[in-house]
Amino acid sequence: MIVIPGPASKELGEKIAAELGAFSHPVENKVFPDGEQYVRFTAPLKGETVVIVQTTSPPQDSKLIQLYMMTSTAKELGARRIICVVPYLAYARQDKRFLDGEVVSLDIVLRLLESSGADDLIVVDAHSAESLQRIRSRVEIWNLSAIPILARHLREQGYGGAYSLGPDRGALHLAESAANELSGGFGFFEKQRDRKTGEIEMQVRDLNVRGRDAVVFDDIISSGGTMALAVSWLKRLGARRVAAACTHALFIGDAEKRILGAGAGLIVAADTVQTKFSEVSVSKLIADHLRTI
Ligand code: R5P
Repeated sequence: MIVIPGPASKELGEKIAAELGAFSHPVENKVFPDGEQYVRFTAPLKGETVVIVQTTSPPQDSKLIQLYMMTSTAKELGARRIICVVPYLAYARQDKRFLDGEVVSLDIVLRLLESSGADDLIVVDAHSAESLQRIRSRVEIWNLSAIPILARHLREQGYGGAYSLGPDRGALHLAESAANELSGGFGFFEKQRDRKTGEIEMQVRDLNVRGRDAVVFDDIISSGGTMALAVSWLKRLGARRVAAACTHALFIGDAEKRILGAGAGLIVAADTVQTKFSEVSVSKLIADHLRTI
């Protein structure tokens, strides 16, 4: 097995290779003056099981094209099996036609990966595991979760016994999984998002967090709007300390300011997207899984 850290995941790719004790061969990559991508493999791939590690956080389109270029070329160069590790899978939130005529972007992303020649796809906390299964094709797809390791990290930071919350019903399973580590119970908010304006509203059901620590767990923090709203509700309800945890820290615009301004005392994320909040690495999680497949 050889590991190819893609241009978007050099650090994580190296860490996965180190965990596996495997050779790592980063690709050469440059961008032409007109914005087109150039990618070159630096090791022979013939007959090899090749693990391509490439996250697809913003700018997602150029990272996706790099991923398709690497996968397709690995196939042409004779790789025996191509395992794509895409820790953050872009476009996963557009997993159905919410409004008439919309593109179901997730399907397109996966179909292109399949036609590029991927045999396996490993993702971390995909927005909806069910959607991945729905369009499962020839490509074997595994959805791993960073939530238990994030929760363990929070326990080490003194959040043991904290109440775990999902900012919407879709994140309830994240809160439940975190509660297995934090042992302080779990719940979720009711969230509605206006499909046209993107505005969100959150309702609180009977939630008793007065005087307690709480942690909000989400798959993605993008603009920070969802997390900030959840954190401010918890503070209003009398929570003592509130932490914000997510797997994929996109942090667009003033997301950090919004979340801290809402009263979060701590922000923690995984390194599926490398940011200053990426205190928890998914390298071992991914390497352990690679050993089993
Ligand atoms: C949506 O259902 C996701 O799980 C996240 O809650 C959402 O994508 C976060 O986006 P933002 O940070 O822009 O509110």
